[in-house]
Amino acid sequence: MWLTQTSLNIYLILLLLMCQENKFHRWKVDGQLSAFRPTVFDNSEWRLFFHLYRNVTMMMAGRTGLKTRGRFLQKQVPDSVPFPCDVNLGRSREPPTSVHKLRPGDINVIAAIGDSVITASGASATSFLELYTENRGLSWCIGGQWNWRNATTLPNILKVFNPKLVGYSYRDSYSFHWDSQFNNAEIGAISKELPHMARQMVTRIKSDRRVNFKRDWKILTITIGGNDICAYVCTMKNPESLPMKHRRNLLATLRYLRDNLPRTFVNIVSMPDVEKVVNLPDKPMICWILHHGECPCWVGPIHNSTESSRARWAKIQRQYKKVEDEVPMLDEFRGLDGFAVVHQPWTKRLTLNNHKGVDYSLLSYDCFHLSQKGHARAASALWNNMLEPPGKKRTAWNAPFESFRCPTRENPYLYTYDNS
Ligand SMILES: *[C@@H]1O[C@H](CO)[C@@H](O)[C@H](O)[C@H]1NC(C)=O
Ligand SMILES: *[C@@H]1O[C@H](CO)[C@@H](O)[C@H](O)[C@H]1NC(C)=O
Ligand SMILES: *[C@@H]1O[C@H](CO)[C@@H](O)[C@H](O)[C@H]1NC(C)=O
Repeated sequence: MWLTQTSLNIYLILLLLMCQENKFHRWKVDGQLSAFRPTVFDNSEWRLFFHLYRNVTMMMAGRTGLKTRGRFLQKQVPDSVPFPCDVNLGRSREPPTSVHKLRPGDINVIAAIGDSVITASGASATSFLELYTENRGLSWCIGGQWNWRNATTLPNILKVFNPKLVGYSYRDSYSFHWDSQFNNAEIGAISKELPHMARQMVTRIKSDRRVNFKRDWKILTITIGGNDICAYVCTMKNPESLPMKHRRNLLATLRYLRDNLPRTFVNIVSMPDVEKVVNLPDKPMICWILHHGECPCWVGPIHNSTESSRARWAKIQRQYKKVEDEVPMLDEFRGLDGFAVVHQPWTKRLTLNNHKGVDYSLLSYDCFHLSQKGHARAASALWNNMLEPPGKKRTAWNAPFESFRCPTRENPYLYTYDNS
């Protein structure tokens, strides 16, 4: 019995390692739907096999996103407390014709591309196997399960202003499931895959009959980099070229969106610093083990990580994030009526500490991904950033609704670099 248990665990850890080395899960590619570029495995037989494999892991792990008890959940806002904003100020009488006059309630379509930060992997996980479940319905920037009181997400906030919003994920799902909607993120995704993801995203939106492609206002959030910095950078021939390559990918993605997705507001959110997570003090044993698989460039012997190699990756990470700060401000994305992109900096000085030390309830079972509680914080931080002028945006997060911004009579619009 003990032996089977142990070998099962070893098997699962190996599987996770494979996933995190970005090899396994991307073979399940579906040229039409998936975020990943087609590979030799992209034929209907392999696709069936990988979809089946994913469906089975999901069945084994279960639909954890429906759990209603646990310290990984946020504090709920009681029914007696009204929504903090004046909803009437948050929506224009007529849909605006300029992205610089966009109010939250004018948004009809929401979408996201990126990595496991966006798939909400393991947000409700309390065991190893459950980390496989992507709790997309609870994702900070694209989950629409429940409501703003008990699942504070960007879509659930926007729904208060415009109940007709479409595109948010309904519940636990993988990207090839209908429930994921316009959440085209994939676990293990890296910068290189952004342009392809964006194209798939546009295909999804274009072919959806609920969307008026030319007229509807769309909001899209992009978060990428965790895998580049944790698992990919140390396998590159010239790791120092990663920020420059990221710049190229980001530029290609934004140009494509500007030219092919009419009426779009893009949020770029940088990954939180990797060292904050890998250096967590007193982390539970299971987290220590899993970080070897999730962040092999920084933790463990696989890539010979040392103090000095970690300093090297940290430097590359800073440059990588600087790219995300600079590219949205380029002239070619400025002064347009139908497109704007803004870097939202709330992850810059984010802390996981409370007055007692590290607040592990903000993190998932692997101390790497966010818990539902963490997702709720991330959502309200993003929302606040969208209503703060560039230069005055907060660079950390608070508990949801602790300091919640609202559109006002003087400043009713989402901030761009050109209306502030
Ligand atoms: C996987 O699950 C989805 C949704 O439940 C279903 O539509 C699909 O047919 C399944 N695919 C396979 C290969 O089992
Ligand atoms: C959140 O609210 C919905 C609808 O009221 C309810 O079905 C769901 O169980 C609630 N979730 C939690 C965690 O209490
Ligand atoms: C690991 O790092 C040490 C110290 O920097 C170095 O001497 C050694 O050659 C490295 N080994 C490999 C396999 O890179």
